[in-house]
Amino acid sequence: CGIVGYIGHRDAWEIIIKGLKRLEYRGYDSAGVALVNGEMNIYKKAGKVNDLERFAENEELSGSLGMGHTRWATHGAPSDRNAHPHLSGSQKLAIVHNGIIENYAAIKEMLVQKGHTFLSDTDTEVLIKLIEQIQMEGESDLREAVRVALTHVTGAFAIVILSKEEPDLLIAARKGSPMVIGIGEHEYFVASDASPIVEYTKQVYYPDDNVLVFLNRENMEIRDLANLKITPYIQELELELEALEKGGYEHFMLKEIHEQPRSIANCMRGRIHAEEARINLGGISEYANKFLQAQRIIIVSCGTSWHAGLVGEYLIEEYARIPVEVEYASEFRYRNPIIGKDDIVIAISQSGETADTMAAVELAKKAGATIFGICNVVGSSIPRLSHAGMYTHAGPEIGVASTKAFTAQVTALSLLALYIAKHKGSLPSSRIATLLAELQKTPDLITSCLKSEPLVQLIASEIKDSTNCLFLGRGINFPVALEGALKLKEISYIHAEGYPAAEMKHGPIALIDEQMPVVVIATKDSSYEKIISNIQEVKARKGKIIAIVTEGDTVIRDIADYIIEIPFCEEALTPILATIPLQLLSYHIAVMRGCNVDQPRNLAKSVTVE
Ligand code: G6P
Repeated sequence: CGIVGYIGHRDAWEIIIKGLKRLEYRGYDSAGVALVNGEMNIYKKAGKVNDLERFAENEELSGSLGMGHTRWATHGAPSDRNAHPHLSGSQKLAIVHNGIIENYAAIKEMLVQKGHTFLSDTDTEVLIKLIEQIQMEGESDLREAVRVALTHVTGAFAIVILSKEEPDLLIAARKGSPMVIGIGEHEYFVASDASPIVEYTKQVYYPDDNVLVFLNRENMEIRDLANLKITPYIQELELELEALEKGGYEHFMLKEIHEQPRSIANCMRGRIHAEEARINLGGISEYANKFLQAQRIIIVSCGTSWHAGLVGEYLIEEYARIPVEVEYASEFRYRNPIIGKDDIVIAISQSGETADTMAAVELAKKAGATIFGICNVVGSSIPRLSHAGMYTHAGPEIGVASTKAFTAQVTALSLLALYIAKHKGSLPSSRIATLLAELQKTPDLITSCLKSEPLVQLIASEIKDSTNCLFLGRGINFPVALEGALKLKEISYIHAEGYPAAEMKHGPIALIDEQMPVVVIATKDSSYEKIISNIQEVKARKGKIIAIVTEGDTVIRDIADYIIEIPFCEEALTPILATIPLQLLSYHIAVMRGCNVDQPRNLAKSVTVE
């Protein structure tokens, strides 16, 4: 979910609605706003922020204190009733919340016994009612009641609270869920990330866990849950407004696909000195030795970032010769994993906020492992939890389906693998120099991959009505097949599966008939001959073959129904290039099917619940 709060001298409604639209990538099944202006006016609606805007068009929207929320449902179906803000029993207090209150059922039971009734199925309503109960019982002021209430709840939260009776107070607090405070002139902003804030101020403060922020128009006071005052560390935001807009493209996803030459270049900037075979990774600093001594590396991540992790496994094992295990963060954290002090856990996350990945990191950290974060969002939670790490510097990714973040993650992993190889001596310097020089060419090579877009559009129009699709790859391109399938299913709702090409004969081959498009990554690499056999197997069953091949390939041209060429490159770099046409393919299929590409149904970009 996404939250925005404002206290100052401007029209809060405008700021909140604009901010919520920027945060819609975090969830978009319902939205709501509360405005304090003598009264407290609340408007909430199932659906997108646009629906809320239309709904409230002719309502009273004045007020320079307010908050808003865009929801990704956890407890309770998306509905007007379950949309935030939620109110206390007296209707004087309102709350918006991102995260989960884990012990809400026990608190609810206690409150029901004390006579409270509930209007929604949410855990959030329980929290605001608890706050009012504490206020009544202890005759304490609102600030104190919020603090006490938060000492009773377990789980993750980022909350904003307003009171009808306090026209100059906004309370925000967080634990586990992201939050940033923007500091302006006689005004403050609260948001789940900096995107709603950037056009008003660049002075920001990222509160730590278990911190309460009390804002009035002149002042910001920070306290911890034990009520001790904290001095905020205020920093300058590096985000630019243009990065948050579509810049002429029809969708963010398309813009982000086309941005990849630049995002990859940004990921490598300042890090490569090819002639000297040197890689500069400032974020490893004093932990470099840990990598050299590591007996094992465990990569934890979710979704597309997990696919990047699988590519990372090939890269690190191949170049650095350290055994790597790649785990879904959600599985890793719940199965009593064996973690030792000499292990390195690499957490890969675009947002740096994914709840399961964060929990896996916390677990591994407690067990004594060294945590290395590979994240895109600067200042997010995972980098702050990590001992060492590197940012991918892909810039804000707004489309829910991850594109440029993935290729930047793979680039970062390539740099890391070569860095370890260099320091361990597991690869000759001359080879490292060659690979780095090749890596530096990828932005140009991606530009040429993007030129296949008209052809990809044609193929998309041919297969857009399929109900199933199979993606095959081998070796380092097997994770690319997984990623291609994920992209297609998440934005076009066509069922798709990624498979290691050789495994096809152990199951998926049963599905192949003339209705079944089979996308094969068949570049000229070490498994080229083998994959040709796999293509033949598909052909023999009349599957429709779409092959991603190396420029100039004539063999597969004769077998496949369609070929999409990508430039010749080092095998280790093919995942970056081969992914590009697959992103374009799913994008165009989804557009042709009339799907909402940037905000596919049921998904959220940043999953801050487990
Ligand atoms: C969500 C997004 C995916 C993303 C995954 C992991 O499911 O829709 O695009 O890959 O979360 O997110 P992270 O921010 O940790 O990379």
